[in-house]
Amino acid sequence: MTDQIPVIAVDGPSGSGKGVVASYLSTQYEYHLLDSGALYRLVGLAARRQGLVLENRPDQEALGDIAQHLDVTFAPTNDPENPLAMTLNGERVESEVRTDEAGVDASLVAAVPSVRDGLFELQQSFRQSPGLVADGRDMGTVIFPEADVKIFLTASAEARAERRYNQLKHKDIGVSLHDLFQSIHARDERDRTREVSPLRPADDAFVIDSTDMDIEEVLNQVQAIVTERLG
Ligand code: DC
Repeated sequence: MTDQIPVIAVDGPSGSGKGVVASYLSTQYEYHLLDSGALYRLVGLAARRQGLVLENRPDQEALGDIAQHLDVTFAPTNDPENPLAMTLNGERVESEVRTDEAGVDASLVAAVPSVRDGLFELQQSFRQSPGLVADGRDMGTVIFPEADVKIFLTASAEARAERRYNQLKHKDIGVSLHDLFQSIHARDERDRTREVSPLRPADDAFVIDSTDMDIEEVLNQVQAIVTERLG
């Protein structure tokens, strides 16, 4: 009976810290981890590799087909910077999947209803004993509306752009803060205003605004919420 397996849903825009929170919770509770954003990124990558155009009226049928038949694997690593190893058609692809370009492609394919339908069952299949931490945009609203705990993490677009800027600087990757802000802002708009499963907190989600918080404070708040719900 999978509906008795606990689910913790962690939703929010990119750069809100939800990836760190989800990975922390899955380690803490020894739960499985669903990185649903990675699935959309993989669909985008597979589509590009097939030569599909993702901007302006992409081919919905071809994209839906890719999502339905996505040949992917995920395996946890012990590296906090890169907690999931992943393959597409047997090939390791996480360095390609984690780029900002792959994030933009993911946001484009994520607005296509046939892609969301195609990934629905695959996402639900991650609900396995002893429990699941599901990270995404619609975990608490669409994929696991009955989740035991729902966290919605947010932060201002300026704060999120600055975090990404510092991450990239740390890796010696030069980008402009202004360009990053513009790209995050555009992605937010697309994710929030699309017709299918737009980014929004579930009515019963705990909303945490991390704009002025460091990650320890966020983790403490999240831990307090989850402990109260799950023990
Ligand atoms: O969390 P992420 O940055 O890896 O997500 C990449 C894109 O995928 C994001 O811009 C929106 C989309 N996405 C989605 O629409 N629904 C999800 N459950 C997860 C991600």
